[in-house]
Amino acid sequence: MIRINENYTRLKPSYLFSEIANRVAQYQSENPGADIIRLGIGDVTKSLPPACINAFHKGVDELSCDSTFKGYGPENGYAFLREKIAGEDFHKRGAPIDADEIFISDGAKCDTGNFQELFANDITIALPDPVYPVYLDTNIMAGRAGNAKNGRYENIVYLDGTMENGFIPQLPSQPVDLIYLCFPNNPTGAVITKSRLQEWVAFAKEQKALILFDAAYEAFITDETLPHSIFEIDGARQVAVEFRSYSKTAGFTGTRCAYTVVPKECVAYTESKSEILLHPFWKRRQSTKFNGVSYPVQKAAEAVYSDAGKEQVKKRINEYLLNARIICDAMDDLQFSYVGGKNSPYIWVHGKGSDSWDFFDRLLTKAQIVCTPGLGFGQCGEGYIRLSAFNSLENVQTAMDRMKKVLA
Ligand code: MLT
Repeated sequence: MIRINENYTRLKPSYLFSEIANRVAQYQSENPGADIIRLGIGDVTKSLPPACINAFHKGVDELSCDSTFKGYGPENGYAFLREKIAGEDFHKRGAPIDADEIFISDGAKCDTGNFQELFANDITIALPDPVYPVYLDTNIMAGRAGNAKNGRYENIVYLDGTMENGFIPQLPSQPVDLIYLCFPNNPTGAVITKSRLQEWVAFAKEQKALILFDAAYEAFITDETLPHSIFEIDGARQVAVEFRSYSKTAGFTGTRCAYTVVPKECVAYTESKSEILLHPFWKRRQSTKFNGVSYPVQKAAEAVYSDAGKEQVKKRINEYLLNARIICDAMDDLQFSYVGGKNSPYIWVHGKGSDSWDFFDRLLTKAQIVCTPGLGFGQCGEGYIRLSAFNSLENVQTAMDRMKKVLA
């Protein structure tokens, strides 16, 4: 008899963004003429930078000739990309990361979802609330979350984000083993200072815990005092793993390329409390279950670091940040409280007493705007919606005009 992994029965029936897509598709089928503007899922709308497209084409051409053809690539990704990453993303910011501590992958979603496989099933997980649903769902699948009671899982330590704490959660008041942090934050757009991040690193050290730090949105940081990487913090190499992505940075949501940094000093512990290095374990996991990102895609990602690539990426980020500013200005006009939008493509808006799915339905049916209901990111998201700046300037302006008419 084939038996199911019953942990799957503890999940909500559908993934947040699938549920939103279904509701929007239903509305669209009932209102075929509706001009829907999507400010929901954080999917980029601007083309890949020309520097990436050129490198992508060249990479494909190399595959057309036996003498330059590539089959399986190196397990951790091509050195040409890993060396650029180490130099440009880390050394230039004073973060001591070597090229062989970098693992190229097809997405931060997969890596943040898969990394928990390295750990025991009875560890305690600390998760911010609201949170990117992948961190919670993958721990539910693994059986670490326990049963849901009143919308929360009994074995998870929730780190509440509120307007009062600016959606920067406090350190847990109880021992925890694995901590998920994401800054600039998805969904709230909140950012963390170096000194606050230092407190998390010190806490992880004291607890012999590990921080999984998702920095997929670091390219949107405009305030130069803010850390782009947890490895800008002293001591983080022993207690943190970092996830990065080209999706939002350079428009690779469909192309797929990302990377994970596992420093060689980073450890977990056996039952008998001896230290085990995580780097060889993640390498072992990836070489067994993953076969790399295609050569042309890695060439396209390398081009992000060329002079032209840097300029083109910056232009796109600035265009999305301008959209974010237009959304923030509209929220100010409407006197909605919000966070985010300054160093982030997300604006997290308080619905003045509306529940978050009602607010979602109102925006969809009255203004033909898709947002993401805050409750989908956790209980602390109830009463909020997330607006994404990933769209054209024209669509964002139209959406804000519609919101002002409908909500004023
Ligand atoms: C989001 O909208 O939160 C993101 O697009 C999700 C993702 O990157 O997987």
